Amino acid sequence: MSDFRTTTPENHFGPSLLTIASFPANPHSRRRKAHLPYWVKPTLPYGTIRKMAARSRKIVDISVIGLGNWGSSLVPALTSAGIPLREVIVRRKRRSRLPLTTWRDANLEAGILWLCVPDSAIPAAVKEIVRRRPSLSGQIVVHSSGALTVAALETAKRAGAQVASVHPVMTFPTRDVISLHGVFFGIEVEDAVTRKILYSLLRRLGGKPFDLRSEDKAMYHAAGTLASPLLVSALTVAMEAARLAGLDEKTSRRWVQSLAEPTMRNVFARGPEKSFSGPFARGDAETIRLHLQALQEHPILAAVYRSLAGFALDALPVKKSETLAKTLHFVSRPRREKSNE
Ligand SMILES: NC(=O)c1ccc[n+]([C@@H]2O[C@H](COP(=O)([O-])OP(=O)(O)OC[C@H]3O[C@@H](n4cnc5c(N)ncnc54)[C@H](OP(=O)(O)O)[C@@H]3O)[C@@H](O)[C@H]2O)c1
Repeated sequence: MSDFRTTTPENHFGPSLLTIASFPANPHSRRRKAHLPYWVKPTLPYGTIRKMAARSRKIVDISVIGLGNWGSSLVPALTSAGIPLREVIVRRKRRSRLPLTTWRDANLEAGILWLCVPDSAIPAAVKEIVRRRPSLSGQIVVHSSGALTVAALETAKRAGAQVASVHPVMTFPTRDVISLHGVFFGIEVEDAVTRKILYSLLRRLGGKPFDLRSEDKAMYHAAGTLASPLLVSALTVAMEAARLAGLDEKTSRRWVQSLAEPTMRNVFARGPEKSFSGPFARGDAETIRLHLQALQEHPILAAVYRSLAGFALDALPVKKSETLAKTLHFVSRPRREKSNE
């Protein structure tokens, strides 16, 4: 079991503690032994172990690497939760009340090194960490990508670190601070003690952690991309079509809002099937033909319309779906089975 970087209030950061205090119920069971901290000897009587665990207050301090859109929300969340922030590594130092440092002056000694750099910069940042600190034994290196797996941290793992990916299920489109209270966090981690530490940390931030498997990450992130950035794209397409119909920019935004907001509320209150209205729900092929005619000169808008319509034929309560499929030039196919897959 690796020795996680820990400290006590006496020799380090004062009373702000990240306490890792929930221990397995029965440390003697074979299934649980692998989860025990290194200092818990299963040969000790169970009661003694519980007392030791209760007395032990472990804290983990954190270095954040990258202060962009996500890092700018993570850092204040850590400090307001009283979690010790060791340093924030940036490429160009500027005046700040935060402990900003550049790579050159970084000490990289914190218990958790949390990468908040773009996905494409993760391998180079990990190499930089290992170049400056060849042994990462007792430390946890984390990245924030929803798409990349922990394999992106292989270099840190070879240097002795425990590794994990911790993905905030939230949109951070700018550096404005967004609260992490109630935010889901998808976690991919192999080691049980590291998992416990990260769950405890994220709960302390007000987050709701859940486990992810490496093999699911690409699909999981595709789902997230459909739910946020591509939803923005779908709404922008609607605004663009409204502009083409003669509405000015401000009016087209309000016009789309007046339809999209109640639709979103309906979807999450009643489900997609009971929120579906319009020419597809009515089986109105003639109206759809008029839409396609109007969109003819705008191939990208037409392609988006056809893609979303194709999915609606497949998954939503569309009337006269065979006729509508022909109108859209889709090859008609059997509707998919309802399932909970
Ligand atoms: N934004 C979101 O909505 C969101 C949501 C969930 C997860 N994430 C994940 O969070 C991570 C960061 O995304 P982001 O949106 O915050 O990106 P971002 O806004 O582009 O910020 C990235 C930051 O990393 C810094 N950086 C890049 N290379 C670096 C290096 N080698 N050393 C130190 N700093 C470096 C950049 O510095 P400069 O300021 O000098 O360019 C920038 O401040 C990604 O893994 C992303 O997948 C983002």
